[in-house]
Amino acid sequence: MKEIVLETNIKVYTTAELPDEFKELAQSAISATSGAYAPYSKFHVGAAVLLENGVIVKGNNQENVAYPSGLCAERVALFYAGAAYPGVAVRAIAIAACTGGKPVGMITPCGACRQVLLETEIRGKRPVKVLLCGEMQTYVIESAASLLPLSFSSLGETN
Ligand code: THU
Repeated sequence: MKEIVLETNIKVYTTAELPDEFKELAQSAISATSGAYAPYSKFHVGAAVLLENGVIVKGNNQENVAYPSGLCAERVALFYAGAAYPGVAVRAIAIAACTGGKPVGMITPCGACRQVLLETEIRGKRPVKVLLCGEMQTYVIESAASLLPLSFSSLGETN
């Protein structure tokens, strides 16, 4: 028998400490919350995706009365980026939830969004940084793969 210990490295920055390279992306995620269509949950989420060409693509959660038909902010942003900029790798994604234009408690992506993030990373052949933007602090995770250990792979390999 052997034991496997999985570790995730998370850098935690206070809002004042957040490095300049992340500020615009974090702000874009916060502003993206204003476009959410969330009449059912009333929970407004924003995501901002930084592409390798420097473009920032925004998304927000889009709900539907047939609840499972709605989509999280992260996947709206990632799929929009894939549709509008095919073949352009993703460098980072920032995620925020807001009320009144201000971030509230930090939120973390759901399992389905983690799966899509992982494949985005694999397709782009480079790590996708994940920024979780809260009111007081931002978590920075260096690679989406670390958010989905033991992920499914049709090749029987896993991270
Ligand atoms: N939601 C997101 O957009 N992203 C997340 O990371 C968590 C949840 C949305 C889905 C739904 O519209 C609302 O938040 C409440 O769950």
